[in-house]
Amino acid sequence: MNDFRPGLEGVVAFQTEIAEPDEEGGALRYRGVDIEELVGHYPYEAIWGLLVDESFDPGMPHPDEYAPKHLTGNAPSDLQAETARLSSEWGLKKLVDTDLDETRDDLARLSAQMMSIVAKSAAIHDGREPAPDDVVSQGETAAEAFLLRWRGEANPDHVKAIDTYWICTAEHGLNASTFTARIAASTGADAGAAMSAAVGALSGPLHGGAPARVLPMLDEVAAKGDPEGYVKDLLDRRGRIMGFGHRIYRAEDPRSRILKRTVQEIGSHRLEVAEALEEAALAELHRRKPDYVIATNVEFYSAVLLDVAEVPPDLTPAMFACARVAGWSAHILEEKRTGRLIRPSAQYVGPSSRPASAVGRAPVRT
Ligand code: ACO
Repeated sequence: MNDFRPGLEGVVAFQTEIAEPDEEGGALRYRGVDIEELVGHYPYEAIWGLLVDESFDPGMPHPDEYAPKHLTGNAPSDLQAETARLSSEWGLKKLVDTDLDETRDDLARLSAQMMSIVAKSAAIHDGREPAPDDVVSQGETAAEAFLLRWRGEANPDHVKAIDTYWICTAEHGLNASTFTARIAASTGADAGAAMSAAVGALSGPLHGGAPARVLPMLDEVAAKGDPEGYVKDLLDRRGRIMGFGHRIYRAEDPRSRILKRTVQEIGSHRLEVAEALEEAALAELHRRKPDYVIATNVEFYSAVLLDVAEVPPDLTPAMFACARVAGWSAHILEEKRTGRLIRPSAQYVGPSSRPASAVGRAPVRT
């Protein structure tokens, strides 16, 4: 075997009908529909329906009444633990023992409940009791209900910011967490186990936590007032400008375009410095690498938009997980349709055959 690729980069592991990042055209399509047509016209819960059922209707349901057993206020770990617990609390059947409709319904209940868990955990983090169901039920959309559960009120600008962010990041092909969800699903585990595994994979800073690193950069540029100097100095030190560059897109990341537009519409005290840094970064990156497209990626304006909605940086992985419940659900269902256990190979490069005595003596237990 000599075709090993670190990080599986470029390895095609699945065929999918769910989302198509258009690498050259700078577009992202869900089931063939450009996300430009979706944001602001359909709420997130309808996008969940598009991705999972290929239909906006009925979409993601309201959450069941349920009290999580133990919330600490650390939303990513609360979400992972409580989602795993739902498997036993709700008696979810293994995917091998369910049909497609039952699996879809389990995923719908889980998705809605996962959003509710994050909102409750965020309230506890803030030292507040999560709002009761009669307050939350006044929310017309999932984003509004989320904010009502978390804060007891839902500023319309914050609702728009979160709905836009969730739609833009609902699905993006085979990233680490989606791959993890599919691996767990391929073993026939239940839907709660697959979703909880995905949350664990997403919690790492290389996947779900990048927006948190953009705001300190903006603060530094705002303090110094010299975006060009900041960029040149960082690049001279061979540093990377957070929120620029993408492994897939060789054109503008379409999500960045939509997120930026939304920040402009709502307004943000960080917009001016963000635009100045973006302009300086794009110009200097192009000057230094004229043949390699490094454009603004999803993380840059996600950070600004989530800041507009007063989402603290340490909550961003959990907000990303809320968005991805749609993508994960669609992939778990697609994986169930294939019914094939995922079991890649590893190339053994360890010691050649040898006796145990070559390793050492067995320890003597006293
Ligand atoms: N700032 C400065 N230089 C960069 C940047 C950047 N943001 N991105 C790429 N480059 C340079 C690299 O230094 C490298 O230069 P070299 O050949 O002289 O060493 C060259 O471009 C190619 O870099 P790669 O890492 O091979 O390019 P790739 O396109 O695979 O990188 C990545 C994609 C990892 C996202 C990269 O652009 C990066 O590190 N960006 C900053 C971090 C970031 O924004 N992460 C969030 C990504 S979006 C997401 O995960 C959803």
